[in-house]
Amino acid sequence: MPYADEPFSLVIFGASGDLTYRKLVPALWSLYAARTLPEPFAIIGTARSEMSNEAFRGRMREGVTRFARLKIPSQHVWDRFAGSLFYVAGDPNAPELYTRLKQRLEQIETARGGARNRIFYCATPPSLYDDIVAGLGAASLARVDGGWTRIIVEKPFGRDLESARALNRQLMSVFQEEQVYRIDHYLGKETVQNILVFRFANGIFEPVWNRNHVAEVQITVAETIGVEGRGSYYEESGALRDMVQNHMLQLLCLIAMEPPVTFDAGPVRDEKNKVMHAMHPIDPAKVDEVALRSRYGPGYVEGKAVPGYRQEKGVKPDSTTETYVAMRLEIDNWRWAGVPFYLRTGKRLAKRVSEIAIRFRRTPHMIFRHARLQVRRGLRR
Ligand SMILES: NC(=O)c1ccc[n+]([C@@H]2O[C@H](COP(=O)([O-])OP(=O)(O)OC[C@H]3O[C@@H](n4cnc5c(N)ncnc54)[C@H](OP(=O)(O)O)[C@@H]3O)[C@@H](O)[C@H]2O)c1
Repeated sequence: MPYADEPFSLVIFGASGDLTYRKLVPALWSLYAARTLPEPFAIIGTARSEMSNEAFRGRMREGVTRFARLKIPSQHVWDRFAGSLFYVAGDPNAPELYTRLKQRLEQIETARGGARNRIFYCATPPSLYDDIVAGLGAASLARVDGGWTRIIVEKPFGRDLESARALNRQLMSVFQEEQVYRIDHYLGKETVQNILVFRFANGIFEPVWNRNHVAEVQITVAETIGVEGRGSYYEESGALRDMVQNHMLQLLCLIAMEPPVTFDAGPVRDEKNKVMHAMHPIDPAKVDEVALRSRYGPGYVEGKAVPGYRQEKGVKPDSTTETYVAMRLEIDNWRWAGVPFYLRTGKRLAKRVSEIAIRFRRTPHMIFRHARLQVRRGLRR
């Protein structure tokens, strides 16, 4: 990644929330502890809750202790990291917040010297993304001389096509495309990145990676846990919005796309885009033929009684939100025509698994068919 060793300031909107506590700051800490975070850096958390810098640092230490991959080796090392954490309280709907953030950024940048590189991370409820973008634009924070400015937008990126387009329009009215990072944390997982290495760094797979040899592709992301107290969030999304339209379609694209010219963002995005364009549209009148949705009922996990989805806190008793979805998709192009891609995901399933299974076509003549039957019948050992 270019600029990876330059100083930067990261402003997190929604810094009193769960994502910052459980994921963002623990991940930043792990980068720091592994000596891969460029220095000097500053992390400025902001949300409406009143908190001092000290209280914010204490809360982040708790999050790091509980959730970070790398442990805190000593108070001294933590103090050095925590010295770069700041908190600015304010309402993202109020213009004053942006004035204060700007002042704080300038103070930090003046004190440390070097480039004025800034990242704004939207980790708030999605309904606030528009206001944050507008606030940054109005305060002239979207671009700055002498450094780069980026904005990171958490999922969900809109609720449907229209709202996603509206959010995109809003972003583009203030930022340029190269400044915008639409985050799908799933893509950062090593196994996901390895799909590309597996496909494009090994000469042996490419010749069989097509309809002549592949009978079907199955992509499964199964969880054993339920909504675990996040019922009101899940009610608004469901498995289709939470998992399929983002993570699983990305996995499908990585499996199905043509080799990009380089591993840079642009060429990879272009190849994924071609897969999405080639996806056979589902006839609204025939959705039932290719997809199904359902939700988990009450039952037992390891001998303990657990509620059904409709009995979870924050969920309507007559909710129609799905916690399981399965579908068959087809890609109408030269490589994949006629090969079904099965996607399935759900909560409270028997086994936690994320896997992609490629089933190859049968050989033209099965010489072991007889032997397999004998083994099954216990005739041979
Ligand atoms: N948690 C995860 O593991 C996870 C994973 C993937 C994506 N995400 C996404 O990340 C975003 C944040 O999730 P989260 O779990 O951190 O949510 P959260 O725990 O509810 O935190 C939301 C944050 O936004 C602020 N906020 C809430 N309502 C507000 C309002 N009306 N006006 C101004 N500020 C408001 C809250 O702080 P104040 O009340 O102090 O202002 C809080 O800091 C969401 O878009 C979510 O979909 C979360």
